[in-house]
Amino acid sequence: MNFNESTTKTNLARAFAAECQAGARYQFMSKMALQDQQKFLSDTMKTLAKNEMAHAKVVYDYILKYNGGSAKNIAIEAGYPFDEPALETSLKEESLIELSEAENIYPSFARIAKDEGFVDIARSFTEIAQIESTHHQILKYLADLYETKKMYKRDKPTEWKCSNCGHVEIKKEGWKTCPLCSMPQGYIIIDIEKELSNKI
Ligand SMILES: [Fe+2]
Ligand SMILES: [Fe+2]
Repeated sequence: MNFNESTTKTNLARAFAAECQAGARYQFMSKMALQDQQKFLSDTMKTLAKNEMAHAKVVYDYILKYNGGSAKNIAIEAGYPFDEPALETSLKEESLIELSEAENIYPSFARIAKDEGFVDIARSFTEIAQIESTHHQILKYLADLYETKKMYKRDKPTEWKCSNCGHVEIKKEGWKTCPLCSMPQGYIIIDIEKELSNKI
């Protein structure tokens, strides 16, 4: 199918807008977390923001590739969220947006791209969907910890590590200020992937 007449072209442009906006919102959240002395949370949001911008680049490059190097004014119609950012609500809301991207939006974009004969684009949409699914899990986990005020409390002894000086302790609760370098609790690293895999 001709790329210019395809739905895939519009879907790439929609994906670009969505990824850029998610990247921007995650950077806002990263700043908020830092103001709140939640360094680990801030770093995590920064990493997610970087992932979203990388996704934006992937879809952007497809538009250029299939459009001879430029595409002027692709019109899209889609809804995007604009909410007052606040860590406790944004983590949860963003986790739901990621879930909908992972389970509905990108799989449907991938199906359409495949039907229209753009197998490389379909493959990338599917890969992005898998990453958004991981983002969903990370954000949901953090939202739950934040909401229950258990960011640094666990039922079992857990390894806590300071991201500033590397100090390690195995306890049920992370220190309020690091015994070695005195940085606040928010500098403690949470091994999200390990904790998530222990939960399964
Ligand atoms: Fe993304
Ligand atoms: Fe994401």
